[in-house]
Amino acid sequence: MSNMFLNYLGLGSRTPVAEDKSPVRALPSSWYTSQEMYELEKRAIFSRKWQLITHKSRLSQSGDWLKFEITGYEFVLCRKRNGEINGFHNVCRHRAFPIVQEQQGSAKIFACKYHGWSYGLDGKLAKAPKYDELEGFDKSQNGLFPIHVRVDASGFVWINLDGNETPEVPWEADFDKIDTQERYSQYNFDDYVLDHEYKVEGAYNWKILADNFNECYHCPTAHPDIPTLADIETHAVDSEFGWIKHVSVPTEEQKSLGLAIASTYFFPNSSISVLPHFIMLQRFLPHGPNRSTMHYQIFRNKNSSEEQFELIHQLYKRVVGEDKVLCELAQKNLDAGIFVNGEMHPRLEKGPLHFQKVARETIREHFEREKAAKRPIWPARQKLQSTTGVSKDDEELCSGLACQTNQSELAW
Ligand code: FES
Ligand SMILES: [Fe+2]
Repeated sequence: MSNMFLNYLGLGSRTPVAEDKSPVRALPSSWYTSQEMYELEKRAIFSRKWQLITHKSRLSQSGDWLKFEITGYEFVLCRKRNGEINGFHNVCRHRAFPIVQEQQGSAKIFACKYHGWSYGLDGKLAKAPKYDELEGFDKSQNGLFPIHVRVDASGFVWINLDGNETPEVPWEADFDKIDTQERYSQYNFDDYVLDHEYKVEGAYNWKILADNFNECYHCPTAHPDIPTLADIETHAVDSEFGWIKHVSVPTEEQKSLGLAIASTYFFPNSSISVLPHFIMLQRFLPHGPNRSTMHYQIFRNKNSSEEQFELIHQLYKRVVGEDKVLCELAQKNLDAGIFVNGEMHPRLEKGPLHFQKVARETIREHFEREKAAKRPIWPARQKLQSTTGVSKDDEELCSGLACQTNQSELAW
């Protein structure tokens, strides 16, 4: 890969280490605007890191399923007959038609609407019409591609798309004990049920949303409501590995209104804000270098009144709308190409600095590996079986032409 391209992405040299009393340079704007960086993030981050998706309460009965999507990878979470939640890519093993097209449902079996192959709730191939005429077709090798699923101690559901049998990154490496953090002891997560979902689409990079969410330095200027919600002066951030905890000490009045917030961001793109009457599970879904969706799953405490729930729900919705404008206008200037980066405050912008550090390290590590291998590495990609000699030859021919998906512009 050319040095010019490395420098363009800011990968040519290391970024200086943060000093507590000195401002710190942010990631350069190219990381927020380049198509190549977005493609690299799909491989380095979204194909191999654990991602928080939803809460198990949304899959209460056997056969319940939900479809999700992240950077173009669609997958289905489903509760099996034995009560476990499993997941698989939304890709038929025959000729890649999606197994489900709706957002959610309840199924006894998943039947593909192209040629009629059908799969059990565990993703195993049940029927492939007329394939019993064939010799050497092994049904057990043609189940849906599984994804890794973990339900944490608070019932939140995580996935990892790494195609290896065991994901290269263990969940504990990024999130050990974060699901039993002290602040959660006062909540019974079984009391919360999904109220509704909503999304806000916008012209911004997903990382600009993460930077924005993880600091409250902008709160006094941009969010007139925030003093109702939290004490800005006591807001602090505690971060390690893949998590960023937001801590603020609520006033007595805030406590009485149910505004004690336990908010945690999980690298790369999710957060949970837990309050007595309400939980907001937020996901930033990238669609390209400068297009993302903010997606919200709003849970309501079934013991709370309508007023208690609405107070906090409306407050958060206003804040989300204000953040959308901030992010869109900042991204517009990043896209324009004047600005490279600015200096950030090590305490007041500790959250985005931690986020950027984890992003930089994760991306750089994968990038170094690709450089050594002299090819892009797609961790979520199907691993071909040893019997597939013909397709291996075909694949190699195509990669010789540099026609692997999205790779034509990279000069390795
Ligand atoms: S693609 Fe699903 S049955 Fe053919
Ligand atoms: Fe904000």
